[in-house]
Amino acid sequence: MTFNREKLQLLLQQEEALFHKNHQRSFALYQEAKKSLFGGVPMLWMIRWAGSFPIFVEKAGGARFTDVDGNEYIDFCLGDTGAMTGHAPAATIRAIAEQAAKGITLMLPYKDVIEVGVELQRRFGLPKWQFALTATDANRFALRMARTITGRQKVLVFNYCYHGSVDEAFISLDEEGTPGPRKNNLGPSIDPRETTKVVEFNDVAALETALSAGDVAAVLAEPVMTNIGIIHPDPDFHEWLRKLTRKYGTYLIIDETHTICAGPGGYTMQANLQPDFLTIGKPIAGGVPAAVYGFSDDVANAFEAILDRDTSDVGGIGGTLAGNALSIAAMKATLTEVLTEDFYKKAISLQEKFTQGVESVIVEFSLPWIVKRLGNRSEYWFHPRAPRNGGEAAAAEDHELDRFMHLYALNRGILLTPFHNMALISADTTEADVNYHTNVFRDAVATLIS
Ligand SMILES: Cc1ncc(COP(=O)(O)O)c(C=O)c1O
Repeated sequence: MTFNREKLQLLLQQEEALFHKNHQRSFALYQEAKKSLFGGVPMLWMIRWAGSFPIFVEKAGGARFTDVDGNEYIDFCLGDTGAMTGHAPAATIRAIAEQAAKGITLMLPYKDVIEVGVELQRRFGLPKWQFALTATDANRFALRMARTITGRQKVLVFNYCYHGSVDEAFISLDEEGTPGPRKNNLGPSIDPRETTKVVEFNDVAALETALSAGDVAAVLAEPVMTNIGIIHPDPDFHEWLRKLTRKYGTYLIIDETHTICAGPGGYTMQANLQPDFLTIGKPIAGGVPAAVYGFSDDVANAFEAILDRDTSDVGGIGGTLAGNALSIAAMKATLTEVLTEDFYKKAISLQEKFTQGVESVIVEFSLPWIVKRLGNRSEYWFHPRAPRNGGEAAAAEDHELDRFMHLYALNRGILLTPFHNMALISADTTEADVNYHTNVFRDAVATLIS
């Protein structure tokens, strides 16, 4: 299969023109927003969406949303996991409304928090839990605890990981394997090489070399990488990761924020991992800001022994609104009534169909592409082989082609996760939605290579 770049650019222009024609109200709102918002958007990265301006949303429910121009979309982005439950799940909405009428934030607990703690223990197998508002903060707090207990300064991450805006994680390896600040790392307080070691995922030898110096407080890892395509661990990688972290006295922090797509207890329960810390945010409160981090009894005891109660409010682990009553109520309802075994059964089986649909088009057109799946998440990649690590995956990125595939889908009522080709499926997504995606994906490919 071949396509030429000039044709791709021409097609992109055509899709851009169609996008403008069908999103005139969004365009007008974007012009209006520019008068008060930097870049015309609430968060700067929103200008990176396919299309030269963002779509403004009118309303969302289940697996769909409608924009201000009246266009309806099947949402396979689902807030990049934040709305993996489907938009506005009934049980969560009910809990939010009831709690809002009884108080939103007090800096004191309501008893619901105990049920949430017990549910987190049951799901993820760790005994002690704390709350934050974002997965970024959950990671930051776990790292602070790990550094405090071990007295070590360094952390280790995998090349091209993403764990939110955690300073230590913005480091990557160049083509020669030399670490440096990740491209466009904005104003780091210090060079991340001072704080962080970085090795490739699935590279056990490099991991051992890095840990053997005995200066790494924690490894922060997604158990399956999801932010540079889906990269599965080699069959024995997690065994080595656990063995080596224990051998060198390094804590293992598993970030389940995206890999909760694997099942109710994330990849940790599926693969029987034994992390010292587990962090998660995004979908656990149905889209209301909430995150948690859990840890072992050993960690809890070691931390307790160091903690100074009188100054614990200024120790760098905190957040006035963390653990607020609204987040807790939303989390309780979402975990106990929405993200259930049944949710996963339905969403994963539909994701299998989605992946088969993409695969059938890849085979039909002999495309040198692959599609990978983890639970109810899948991702296609313009590369003939599954990358084993972040470096390989990053080398295969094709931003222009990404942009075309996204815009083509968007113009036909499909939203994919921006910046890569990821699709999430909720229990509200239907088989017809999945088949529609397969047809649109096929049309995009046929248009590109005809
Ligand atoms: C694995 C992982 N951890 C943490 C985060 C940070 O989440 P948030 O931006 O909600 O803090 C992300 C965001 O994409 C993520 O993918």
